Amino acid sequence: MCLAETDDSSKILIRGGTVVNADRQFHADVYIEDGIIKLVAPDLKVLDGVRVVDATGKYVMPGGIDPHTHLAMPFMGQETCDDFFSGQAAALAGGTTMHIDFALPIDGDLLKGFESYRRKAEPSCMDYGFHMAVTTWNDKVAQDMETLVKEHGINSFKFFMAYKGSLMVTDEQLLQGFKTCKSLGALPQVHAENGDAVAEGQSRIYDLGITGPEGHALSRPSLLEGEATARAIRLAKFVNTPLYVVHVMSIDALEEIARARQAGQRVIGEPVASGLVLDDSKLWDPDFRVAAQYVMSPPIRPAGHNAALQAALSSGVLQLVGTDHCPFNSSQKAAGRGDFRKIPNGVNGIEERMHIVWDAMVNSGKISPSDYVRISSTACSISAQIFNVYPRKGAVLPGSDADLIILNPNKTTTISAKAHHSNIDTNIYEGWQIKGNIEVTISQGRIVWENERLNVARGAGRYVKMAPFGQLFDGIVKADIAYLSSLKAPVYRK
Ligand code: URP
Ligand code: ZN
Ligand code: ZN
Ligand code: ZN
Repeated sequence: MCLAETDDSSKILIRGGTVVNADRQFHADVYIEDGIIKLVAPDLKVLDGVRVVDATGKYVMPGGIDPHTHLAMPFMGQETCDDFFSGQAAALAGGTTMHIDFALPIDGDLLKGFESYRRKAEPSCMDYGFHMAVTTWNDKVAQDMETLVKEHGINSFKFFMAYKGSLMVTDEQLLQGFKTCKSLGALPQVHAENGDAVAEGQSRIYDLGITGPEGHALSRPSLLEGEATARAIRLAKFVNTPLYVVHVMSIDALEEIARARQAGQRVIGEPVASGLVLDDSKLWDPDFRVAAQYVMSPPIRPAGHNAALQAALSSGVLQLVGTDHCPFNSSQKAAGRGDFRKIPNGVNGIEERMHIVWDAMVNSGKISPSDYVRISSTACSISAQIFNVYPRKGAVLPGSDADLIILNPNKTTTISAKAHHSNIDTNIYEGWQIKGNIEVTISQGRIVWENERLNVARGAGRYVKMAPFGQLFDGIVKADIAYLSSLKAPVYRK
């Protein structure tokens, strides 16, 4: 078959690679035109005007989708140091071509918060979506949720069970939120830690004179994550709604998710790169600047939790990997010198996730390249699983957006703050050697990362609307009817 003849870099042929989708891998060429994948077939022939990229010996995969980021987010008296342009440029350099960021309300007002995030995202250089956080409850919040779902492409809402006094909601608010999400076909997400107990733990540890970053880990142990995860799961069961648990960091939490899934409940669990590969030892580093980098919530756990999270991911107990990219510079982290409670919570990862997961899980033989595609990209987009943008995103298929990466499994690189593209001045993976390098990233059909160079366009990123009532909601109404008909008829006593 011959391809187009005009000289135009919107026409690209990726030749000779191994195409990897979530279901299988196979040898094929990939032809892209005007931002869309047009053909995936062996031995495509090319005429003049088509840019040819040789992928012999390399993997051609869907670009990563990061379901959990915080760009330009005001939090704990600071604002994360990556805006939508710098954070997305970093993402593209690391093979991620779409992310879903958390829009925060302004003074509890969801629509105001959403509009402000839309403005902040105008300089975007890659495609993105939003989850909306719900941090209080009243009639206007419920109305705004409906508007956001029906008019603005939001299909998930995050509820914080921690951060007492700022973002945290009560169980009563959580229940109202879950009910409203269910009625709208939107997925409720929880940050699962017991916020009251965390506040108590923080005072206890601080009063013992432990004021450094290690106090962060000591004050909010994994049992508080397990408790909140269990509570959220039970409330979701009570309401009969699907549930998505963000940043699963501990065995305690994953065991609750495993139990619920085994019992047939629709619970999605998202570990993040840091939780999968790090342990909490760095929080004890005597250098505050080093230790504070690792402060995030729920905390990075003692060794053992990471291996269990990887096992849960490879066995399907957990479904997809995010980053919780929430970067603060060392000068911002310094706000918590002498009081760990004031260290802004968050770590980097948007640029590293794809490499870290490949190295930790594919190179070690825990998962196949197809599994890698599933947990880093497809699971996030697919309707049956989660955010309902498949097959536009998350697949190398004719008709899908041309968001692709080419990974060279034999090339080794070293991660460092000096070389990375995020604005953050540290890197929690400093000095890590990674085997398997994303040499090319294609976003919207344009080569944006090649030869270690970025070529991104400010403003080219598109807001991707996500539709409600993904397949996770199938069966919910049937289950409700079954529940109602199972109730014993009331007894009318004299
Ligand atoms: O430490 C974290 N995770 N910071 C970002 C806010 C959140 O809870 O996701
Ligand atoms: Zn031909
Ligand atoms: Zn959170
Ligand atoms: Zn987060």
